[in-house]
Amino acid sequence: YPPERIRNFSIIAHVDHGKSTLADRLLELTGTIKKGHGQPQYLDKLQVERERGITVKAQTATMFYRRIINSSDIHNEEQSDYLLNLIDTPGHVDFSYEVSRSLAACQGALLVVDAAQGVQAQTVANFYLAFESNLTIIPVINKIDQPTADPDRVKAQLKSLFDIDAEDALLTSAKTGQGLEHVLPAVIERIPSPPGKCDLPLRMLLLDSYYDEYKGVICHVAVVDGTLRKGDKIASAATNQAYEALDVGIMHPELTPTGILFTGQVGYVVSGIRSTKEARVGDTLYHARSIVEPLPGFKPAKHMVFSGLYPADGSDFEALNHAIERLTCNDASVSITKESSTALGMGFRCGFLGLLHMDVFHQRLEQEYGARIISTIPTVPYIFEYSDGSKVQVQNPATLASNPGKRVTACWEPSVIATIIIPSEYVGPVITLCSERRGEQLEYSFIDSQRAFMKYRLPLREIVVDFYNELKSITSGYASFDYEDADYQTSDLVKLDILLNGQPVDAMATIVHQLKAQRIGRELVDRLKKFIDRQMFEITIQAAIGSKVIARETISAMRKNVLAKCYGGDVTRKKKLLEKQKEGKKRMKRVGSVDIPQEAFHELLKVS
Ligand code: GTP
Repeated sequence: YPPERIRNFSIIAHVDHGKSTLADRLLELTGTIKKGHGQPQYLDKLQVERERGITVKAQTATMFYRRIINSSDIHNEEQSDYLLNLIDTPGHVDFSYEVSRSLAACQGALLVVDAAQGVQAQTVANFYLAFESNLTIIPVINKIDQPTADPDRVKAQLKSLFDIDAEDALLTSAKTGQGLEHVLPAVIERIPSPPGKCDLPLRMLLLDSYYDEYKGVICHVAVVDGTLRKGDKIASAATNQAYEALDVGIMHPELTPTGILFTGQVGYVVSGIRSTKEARVGDTLYHARSIVEPLPGFKPAKHMVFSGLYPADGSDFEALNHAIERLTCNDASVSITKESSTALGMGFRCGFLGLLHMDVFHQRLEQEYGARIISTIPTVPYIFEYSDGSKVQVQNPATLASNPGKRVTACWEPSVIATIIIPSEYVGPVITLCSERRGEQLEYSFIDSQRAFMKYRLPLREIVVDFYNELKSITSGYASFDYEDADYQTSDLVKLDILLNGQPVDAMATIVHQLKAQRIGRELVDRLKKFIDRQMFEITIQAAIGSKVIARETISAMRKNVLAKCYGGDVTRKKKLLEKQKEGKKRMKRVGSVDIPQEAFHELLKVS
């Protein structure tokens, strides 16, 4: 397939507008997967993806498509074969990093919009990602089978927001199959072929890498110029390491060896790389000893949320370390550094793209690697300036210096620009919510007679926990929301400590805005009281800023003797009870002298 017969495209959409279903249909239409293969959303491979019905990792599939142009004279029928690379992308805000990565290998994108819901916040965000990457955008109005579908309204929205002409939109139902026959012809006609040159030295963009038990690291690559053959010696521009291309092929949709990848193709290469750390996304791979200009890489992932991750049982540290190493092979967008806590022992400080990303990471650790973990209250990266003039980014509240000689003189917190689209009747409550969350309104307009469009600057801290749920609940689920990170803003921040029997628990410290400290302190103390069992002695729980206690609760002492119930001398019964007590203890963390159940840590995560 010469580049003229290749098209690389992506499907972008707001969450649930039907990307994955449309991808399935296109794979079926081209015979890449069998119809009714029994597993919808074929490209959503991960267990979390299936359970949550979301796409987390972008996946790529190559399809072969024979286009037949009928003319009135059947002997004059024209046939041409095309190689189409479809790159499925995640729709959730946390994963827009994956979206921009996928787009780097494409020349065009199908912008899928639900015919009933119309343009939503992520439609806007994804449109701009594609637009800024100079991609040809094909608007697809999907779900036209729904009784509430209103394609004309969506066309008007596309025109008013993106200046897209109504006649450019394709109307489809990925469910009934209606209109799908127009999609691939439009891809071929409207999306340009990849611009690379076959006769130039090889340059490949490393799109993604993951670890496979049997093959080692598998790299997804887009061949920008030149040709890659099995057995070629390739080198990385980022690490200068050289490797041999041991296996080369395409995703069809499973790995299918072809021994060769030509200019414009997207495929995989296995090259004996042992760790994905050596396979950096955005890296340029080329023929060893040839001299090429590296391709522009991707923007590195920005970590918006940090939290500590500890083994639920201290002795599992090595097992957790191993699990994290394996998982980060498949999710290089998490940053990991070792840390230790007086309360929880040895653990890790992890940086995530957002809260959903954090949840998904935790869930994968537990499901795929059987790890049992405790995670600490998520925090955003704040910047503090001290009286000695030093400035530090604080990713772990416990490390915020409390040394009196080193006073904090200024602090900054990261902010975001949020886009919110809502039916106009919900404008009031949304404005109230945003101002409670310390938001500043930047824009307020209407995209049609029923829908309002708002832009807010909000502190990142205020949206990472529970903002989206709250927004959904006050708008009966109709709000859509997306954000991009903006600059740091000066702020009035304090460190909130939690003390158990007078001892600060480092793993429970958080940084909060001065105005919210009282309420958050109270809520943390109340939640802890609910979850910590009475013990042999009285326990005081306090929230404090410096030496000032702002909330306090006590749990009175109780003498707990499991054997008291055990009259007489039944030894087996006694043993059983002692075993049971031991088991109960396992799920506890001893902090100072106080046993804290794991759930207490989970509960603290929910305080916003
Ligand atoms: P993410 O992967 O989470 O970003 O979602 P997505 O955009 O890939 O959406 P997905 O394909 O998972 O579809 C969401 C829901 O819409 C599923 O329940 C689909 O069955 C349904 N759906 C998709 N296309 C159509 C359609 O054309 N008509 C109707 N009625 N339902 C559809």
